[in-house]
Amino acid sequence: MSKETSEILFRPGLEGVPVTHSAICDIDGLNGNLTYRGYPIEELAAHSTFLETAYLLIWGELPTQDQLREFEAQVQMHRRVSFRVRDMLKCFPATGHPMDALQASAASLGLFYSRRAIDKPQYIYDAVVRLIAKIPTMVAAFQLIRKGQDPIQPRDDLAYSANFLYMLTEREPDPLAARIFDRCLILHAEHSLNASTFSARVTASTLTDPYAVVASAVGTLAGPLHGGANEDVLAMLEEIEKADGAGDFLDNAISKKRKIMGFGHREYRVKDPRASILQCLAEEMFARFGKDDMYEVATALEEEASTRLGPKGIYPNVDFYSGLVYRKLGIPRDLFTPVFAISRVAGWLAHWKEQLGANRIFRPSQIYTGAQKRAWLPLEERSNSIDA
Ligand code: SDX
Repeated sequence: MSKETSEILFRPGLEGVPVTHSAICDIDGLNGNLTYRGYPIEELAAHSTFLETAYLLIWGELPTQDQLREFEAQVQMHRRVSFRVRDMLKCFPATGHPMDALQASAASLGLFYSRRAIDKPQYIYDAVVRLIAKIPTMVAAFQLIRKGQDPIQPRDDLAYSANFLYMLTEREPDPLAARIFDRCLILHAEHSLNASTFSARVTASTLTDPYAVVASAVGTLAGPLHGGANEDVLAMLEEIEKADGAGDFLDNAISKKRKIMGFGHREYRVKDPRASILQCLAEEMFARFGKDDMYEVATALEEEASTRLGPKGIYPNVDFYSGLVYRKLGIPRDLFTPVFAISRVAGWLAHWKEQLGANRIFRPSQIYTGAQKRAWLPLEERSNSIDA
């Protein structure tokens, strides 16, 4: 391909470039609509559960009663992790970031299960069950271990979200809190070809095992421009401190071209529909369990930003209100992104399965901008050295 043609095709960050056909999720960024397998996110967040939504994303249809009962039973049966994984987590520094612990422990699952026959339906079903079942257990285990305690075993009498909150906090959650958390997981489960899902598809296209696919995606999600933003939003709100400081904070940040965390999106030119639902969930939490002073700061910031950033199509995204919900649920701040990962595993696995169904290894091109062909330079003849 000529350099001229390559320059015409070049899109930094593959912005707007379709790299696959997919039937999993559709985003209408202009009007703020999001559907999973054709079902509007508002419907799923209101009526579904995370496990039912995960099943829909991965196998393409809402499960029948028997299919859902079997899937829930399988996930419940596979929540425990080997003592070897727990012992490995005990070797990690308590000061390490939980996303690094999750990436390592997700990859370690591949040591226990063969990577043969990855395209067989039963292998896919088993891998989906194991990863959806064990990721929350590993996140909760690292939390207790880094506090110097032994992790607690899952409770078979608790549903998926209630069990995670129990393993994390050692207390059985209020049913409303568990339901609100489950709805947060639905909202974060899938979002077409975001960076971590693209990572998952690229890794899947080499036909490696699904544990490596998820580990690759976890590492990508950890970045502050992607899943890591939810942690930074709270720090930003605390920096602003008072609602009447939001305007000055924004003016100062914009003048320094500082990104406002929890705002902006490659796809949405209006408020992320998930942000609207998460804002309602936050208000539901505050009504029942008490307010969070940072909420006024958040709504004031959104108000002030609407005039300053709105004209550029920059509005709150999924990360803007999620942290306020998680904090009220008693989830430590540096676990916000691992919680995002617990949910997004469903989307990553849906894309893994879809990629296997019509695979072609990802190998894009580049525009070479380096040195042209040149002769070897003996050591004694070299003068300049780069600022290494
Ligand atoms: C997630 O892709 C997904 O679907 C991701 C996600 C999912 O569910 O998987 O939705 C989850 O990652 C949400 C995003 C979380 N990240 C943040 O909240 C970090 C802050 N946001 C930005 O970094 C940014 O908005 C991105 C990364 C989210 C999107 O960036 P783009 O599309 O690459 O836009 P850009 O950086 O090229 O910016 C375009 C313009 C620039 O201004 P100009 O130079 O043209 O004048 O918009 C400005 C940017 O400065 N801009 C912002 C801004 N985001 C974009 N200005 C201030 N604050 C921001 N947050």
